[in-house]
Amino acid sequence: MNDNSSYIRHMRKEDIQQVYEIERKSFPYPFGEVLITNIYFTAPELCFVIEYERELVGFLLGGYAGVEKQTHILSVAILEKYRGLGFGKQILLHFLERSSLLGYTSTKLEVNVDSEGIIKMYEELGFKIASRIRKYYQDNSDAFLMIRNAQ
Ligand SMILES: CC(C)(COP(=O)(O)OP(=O)(O)OC[C@H]1O[C@@H](n2cnc3c(N)ncnc32)[C@H](O)[C@@H]1OP(=O)(O)O)[C@@H](O)C(=O)NCCC(=O)NCCS
Repeated sequence: MNDNSSYIRHMRKEDIQQVYEIERKSFPYPFGEVLITNIYFTAPELCFVIEYERELVGFLLGGYAGVEKQTHILSVAILEKYRGLGFGKQILLHFLERSSLLGYTSTKLEVNVDSEGIIKMYEELGFKIASRIRKYYQDNSDAFLMIRNAQ
């Protein structure tokens, strides 16, 4: 959906609580509020939220990978009732564009190996599976490390 009433902007510190609420509702092992705060203050220029009809409906927490010219998507989520409307893809594309404007040529992320639909979404955005990280999650399930290199 390309709706004029959806709007992506930089995250602000006032958004931390709401971002945490969405994170908590979206993941079985969510990041805590302190970690979200640390991620935000480490790279506020790489953290975004998406509003729809003035409600904060999703976020993307980004950071630097520590490897030259690579950014890292640490978490991305859309409130359940707003999923499937294109907001996730929109905020990911926005992040990738900003990364590249900042001079970063590659982006990495981790995704649960069982999340077939989400892996497909990342592949459509140009990410490729680079490796499998055993026991990455707290329940000992594995993640794929996916990397996207700008063309
Ligand atoms: C992953 C997430 C952010 C995607 O956001 P979204 O707004 O629902 O995604 P979109 O509507 O932009 O969908 C983009 C594409 O991915 C596909 N897709 C996204 N999530 C999917 C899923 N769970 N299963 C199947 N397909 C999915 C959509 O069908 C769409 O495909 P299309 O472009 O060919 O039409 C959202 O589902 C979410 O918050 N999930 C819970 C948290 C999570 O798992 N985050 C990712 C951790 S790696």
